[in-house]
Amino acid sequence: MNEKGLLETLKETKEYKTISEETLKRVIKKNIEKYDNEKIAIKEIKKELYDLHNAYVKMIDYKRALKQLEPAYKTKSPLKIKLAQEKILKRYDGRRMKVIDTFYKEIFKVTGKPKSIIDLGCGMNPLTFPWMDLPEDTEYTCYDLDSEEIKFLNEYFELAGTKQKAIQQDIISKPVTKKADVAFLFKLITCLEWQEPGSAKEIVEKINAKYIVITMQVIGPGKIEENKIYLQKVLGKLAKDIISIDLKQEAIYIIKR
Ligand SMILES: C[S@@+](CC[C@H](N)C(=O)[O-])C[C@H]1O[C@@H](n2cnc3c(N)ncnc32)[C@H](O)[C@@H]1O
Repeated sequence: MNEKGLLETLKETKEYKTISEETLKRVIKKNIEKYDNEKIAIKEIKKELYDLHNAYVKMIDYKRALKQLEPAYKTKSPLKIKLAQEKILKRYDGRRMKVIDTFYKEIFKVTGKPKSIIDLGCGMNPLTFPWMDLPEDTEYTCYDLDSEEIKFLNEYFELAGTKQKAIQQDIISKPVTKKADVAFLFKLITCLEWQEPGSAKEIVEKINAKYIVITMQVIGPGKIEENKIYLQKVLGKLAKDIISIDLKQEAIYIIKR
């Protein structure tokens, strides 16, 4: 099967054309090596890309979201800005928004207030910046794999007038090594392990930050401890002294390097 031809076809397809080329190449290569049958391989490639991408990225109408934010920023009222962002964020992650007032307070109690942050597989989380209660010149760099999402985030940063940046990058093919005080890996570890078993450990090992903050969804009793055991299995020694914070809706796990 012609990997190049397949890549070109996917790059011209509406559903996949905004996904980073590195992600497309990685998923194509993996499935072509796994399946002898061309039809099955193509089916699996499309399924994996759909599962990876559509579940998160297609949730938000970016143009509409930006239009909703513009009038709020014009007022320069922090409260109105938060309300406008909350509306979008509730659609995206209602569970985190239920605990957002304590979420960053609990994290920064352990890490201290960071001057620089990297946010891996950031999704729409950069919109929670006003809840971080950090100075506007905090260096906040975000990474994700969809070009439309990244374009939206950079337009949002411009609107907010902050010096933050979003970068399109497949963090499995090219792990993030930028130096920062704190790294966020929110609801990301299982997603990485599902794509490439072993990738989470490799990515965490390469992170150049003093603190690594991982979150996972908590559904049901005992889950906070279960997640911790899972993280220790996946990350090995790195997670030996992991600190856990139970916020009921989302569990936070912090690693100090
Ligand atoms: C479950 S969502 C979590 C989003 C965000 N961290 C949050 O908690 O609000 C996982 C995110 O990771 C991104 N992602 C998954 N695999 C990735 C990869 N290989 N490279 C870059 N981003 C990735 C997805 O596009 C998605 O936005």
